[in-house]
Amino acid sequence: MSARMLYFKEDALSAGRVAAAAGIESIAIDCHRFPDDELCLALPFVEASEFPETLVIFRSLDRPNEKLFELMLMARHLRQNGVKRLVLVAPYLAYMRQDIAFNPGELVSQQLVGGFLAEWFDAVITVDPHLHRIERLEQAIPVKHAIALSGAPRLAEFIVQQRGQALLIGPDEESAQWVESAAEGCGLEHGVCRKVRKGDREVDIELPRLDITGRQVVLMDDIASSGHTLARAARQLFDAGAESVDVAVTHALFAGNALEVIQSAGVENIWSTDCIAHDSNVVAMAPVLAKALEQVLGALG
Ligand code: R5P
Repeated sequence: MSARMLYFKEDALSAGRVAAAAGIESIAIDCHRFPDDELCLALPFVEASEFPETLVIFRSLDRPNEKLFELMLMARHLRQNGVKRLVLVAPYLAYMRQDIAFNPGELVSQQLVGGFLAEWFDAVITVDPHLHRIERLEQAIPVKHAIALSGAPRLAEFIVQQRGQALLIGPDEESAQWVESAAEGCGLEHGVCRKVRKGDREVDIELPRLDITGRQVVLMDDIASSGHTLARAARQLFDAGAESVDVAVTHALFAGNALEVIQSAGVENIWSTDCIAHDSNVVAMAPVLAKALEQVLGALG
């Protein structure tokens, strides 16, 4: 029996696009929330013989806490009913930034969450996971097929259409990987800032030694969360003489008033991929995700 994709209702559009591009059927998971917030998940398969041997779960893991619990329930249930191959397509992968104990006693969530996912799934496909102190996704999620795709090349193509002579700037050292690959792909000049984080909403940023005067700058990063990294960088770029500053991110988390924070720094356009559904989405990742999914399903057999 061929693979099928399961999705939660709020991911219907994104999951449907990936499933259609990969040529597999997609099926909604029913999720009932009881008055006390407990969840009841339900599938259209009842008897073990009805379950496909290979299933894909599509779940972008922004606002992840409840979603991870749902994935645990689902993975255990599917395994108990004989599902042999289980693939997670998570365009956004949470908890990758806590990759060390920044303060004594802190848990290293990247390794812990990666460990759960490796227990539950045979393969994980994601986009621009925040890999900073490790190089490969399988170091965080020890599965045979841990696939990290990138939104940077597609964002770069979009940026070139909008701002042909843009100067690409990464707001911190971690962003170098995305900014460099985008700049290489489209031949734009680029630079990377240095950032010191002082708190959840407080960062210091040092601009690269480049002449910013009169430049149309696009700030590129994997994630905008509180928005303060991008806002601080944008203000400094304007102080250094930038003509305009736009923002392009893979993952449009935009927690709380992040958009307001970024716009109040003078940023004109905010662009993102559709890894997390948001009004700023301009780049579709379905073709890239579907291609990777087809390859993984082929390799799993
Ligand atoms: C961290 O290095 C990430 O790449 C982002 O720069 C960071 O998570 C953005 O966070 P915020 O928007 O809260 O400043």
